[in-house]
Amino acid sequence: MQILNTVSDLRAVLNVWRMAGDSIAFVPTMGNLHAGHIDLVNKAKACADRVVVSIFVNPTQFGVGEDYASYPRTEYADQDKLLAVGTDVLFLPTVTEIYCLDAAAMVTVSGISEQYCGAFRPGHFSGVATVVCKLFNIVQPNKALFGLKDFQQLIVIKTMVRDLNIPVEIISVETVREVSGLALSSRNGYLTDLEKQVAPELYRILCFAKALVLEGKLSITEIEQQAVKKLDSYGFKTDYLSICRIRDLNPASSEDIELVILAAVKLGKTRLIDNICFSKIL
Ligand code: PAF
Repeated sequence: MQILNTVSDLRAVLNVWRMAGDSIAFVPTMGNLHAGHIDLVNKAKACADRVVVSIFVNPTQFGVGEDYASYPRTEYADQDKLLAVGTDVLFLPTVTEIYCLDAAAMVTVSGISEQYCGAFRPGHFSGVATVVCKLFNIVQPNKALFGLKDFQQLIVIKTMVRDLNIPVEIISVETVREVSGLALSSRNGYLTDLEKQVAPELYRILCFAKALVLEGKLSITEIEQQAVKKLDSYGFKTDYLSICRIRDLNPASSEDIELVILAAVKLGKTRLIDNICFSKIL
């Protein structure tokens, strides 16, 4: 595995691969890699000749008072994991390699970026879209892989790729969960032992809400209220729990068939997000 820190070094390697006709799959990450990331890399290996993984804790997607400074940086352990799984190149740029001091351009995917997590983290999705757009321009991959856990992020990125004609295929990959049901996340490391026991309830409550939707007795609003009540009873502070239609993440109506329930909660100091996608046609 080559570890490259500059855009020019990376481009030199990518050019050689392209000249040889190799296809490239790309997995952007912020590091602190867990089994969910490794699953993305394995899937990337299965769908292209070469795999590039980036580790870059992107400052522009963190708001004031968020965890940019304390975000877990575990570069050496991450390198070992990526080497073991057969990554071709790890791109590990500095902040100044990615953002020049007088950077003026940002990418904004309006509408969807202001809802749900965007309403609680203003500017977050603009930071995500900007860095992902820049990384796509740097790597110019054939395919890029993202986890379904960050469902809204996935929709923002898909919309950006469509609207800006970026020639990359976006592949979404199932959320990897602990046996308890807790979705793997780099931020799970912030949870105390006690919180770790409670955290899996989030996914259980999403499953409960899905079951109520499929049962068809209660309205969407009543189901959302019942789910939030359950979250409250476990000590979660709910930012939102919303039953949405998959295609555009607008609030679902009773006629919609393909649905996703999105949730973001705080447990102590940790913000957790999760979702469940399903169809009303079994
Ligand atoms: O999902 C993440 O880890 C980040 O938001 C991403 C896509 C790597 C952009 O910084």
